[in-house]
Amino acid sequence: SETPAALTILFGATGDLAKRKLYPSLYRLYRKGHLASGFAVIGTARREWDNDIFREHVKKSVIELTTDQDQIDEFISHFYYLPHDVSDSNSYIELRTLANELDHQYSLGGNRLFYLAMAPEFFGTIADHLKYDNLTDTEGFGRLVIEKPFGHDLPSAQELNAQIRRSFDEKDIYRIDHYLGKEMVQNIESIRFANALFEPLWNNRYISNIQITSSETLGVEERGGYYETSGALKDMVQNHMLQMVSLLAMEPPISLQDDDIRSEKVRAFRSMRPLTLETVNEYFVRGQYGPSENGNMLGYREELNVNPESNTETYVAGKVMFDNFRWAGVPFYIRTGKRMPLKSTKIVVQFKNIPMNLYYRSNEQELEPNLLVIHIQPEEGITLHLNAKRAGHQLQTNPVKLSYANSGTDIMNTPEAYEKLIHDAMRGDSTNFTHWDEVALSWSFVDVIAEAWRNEKAPYPNYPASTTGPKAADELLEQDGFFWWPLD
Ligand code: BG6
Repeated sequence: SETPAALTILFGATGDLAKRKLYPSLYRLYRKGHLASGFAVIGTARREWDNDIFREHVKKSVIELTTDQDQIDEFISHFYYLPHDVSDSNSYIELRTLANELDHQYSLGGNRLFYLAMAPEFFGTIADHLKYDNLTDTEGFGRLVIEKPFGHDLPSAQELNAQIRRSFDEKDIYRIDHYLGKEMVQNIESIRFANALFEPLWNNRYISNIQITSSETLGVEERGGYYETSGALKDMVQNHMLQMVSLLAMEPPISLQDDDIRSEKVRAFRSMRPLTLETVNEYFVRGQYGPSENGNMLGYREELNVNPESNTETYVAGKVMFDNFRWAGVPFYIRTGKRMPLKSTKIVVQFKNIPMNLYYRSNEQELEPNLLVIHIQPEEGITLHLNAKRAGHQLQTNPVKLSYANSGTDIMNTPEAYEKLIHDAMRGDSTNFTHWDEVALSWSFVDVIAEAWRNEKAPYPNYPASTTGPKAADELLEQDGFFWWPLD
């Protein structure tokens, strides 16, 4: 569907996310003609910038994407800036005046996207002001796009939600989880539901376990202050990891409409086996990186703005069980961590062994199980691991791989993820955003883990930087008779 004309009002316009992801994404949409029906952007933040400074800033963030100077200049001419104090009505009145002018000037039909890309403690205040200072009261749509984190536990998320719902309907709230914008995460549904080869096998009769890994090589960098209050559990598991789990586990939706998909995801979340304070440590393992073995990388506790005795986890591995007919007995293992040896996100679906084994691999090893690997990043594609006869040897097989690579994209696909999500929000497609019910259910799953860990100090550091994580993460699978498939 076509992208309607719209004004984007961006809170946090001088910030890092805007520079790294949002401006480049808007530029790509613009270049592809998706903003042709009209657009303008008002950036706001505390700094006393003006239009010119702002436009230069936007220009710098997209300059590498093109050599077409005229096009860039035309693009940035749509950007306007207002210094803003989020808790002062006067700021919103100025904002409204400019918004109304631009609405007229660019014929935007009163369509507005309010994009909150800033510290979450202000989300509620801003939403209130938008309504009470009359910014949402236009003829067109008024949508709130909101970055994570959405609360830091269930009660705070509920509070925030109640607050923003005073000004926006659920259907107008677009909660970003940028993993849902990734091409291969979106592909999970197509792989499952467009292939006769997979869907009939997608259950506990044929699948032995599923492993989802998102490993990073970076440490916390300059984000120590934020990360100390978050940790890997809230930073990655509550949102990105559990979203991927729900897409893998859900029942087939009635259609690909956002409501139909969402209700299946919600049902998947509801069938996750809840943990208790007593069982958390049977299912979940935490880690914190220490200095690397060669001494080149600092330990987490030595990083900027980190407590030298920090109890914050930089690594989480866990086992999620679904108590439903499809998945009873099949573990979904997840793991994510900072300072691992490789930047990689992938899903390995491990199939059960065939009932009777007639063949060997070469050198008398047992057959390898069939695997379906979904590569999310940096490579995008799928690989199917099969066994085939070894030439000239009747009883022996070789593992073979059938690979499909999603063409062309060898860079990290995050900018494209944002590009797609912004485009979706403009078009009013909320399929790849997290609905309130999903947020609430994933917090209630995660809160128990957080509470258990808060009450008990961990023996940190327990993995050296640039390794695959603590030993306990391997034991988590070993006790079930499995092992992690390698990262690469
Ligand atoms: C963000 C987390 O949500 O996701 C970061 O806050 C993390 O800590 C990032 O680095 C990972 O995203 P990606 O797209 O690089 O895998």
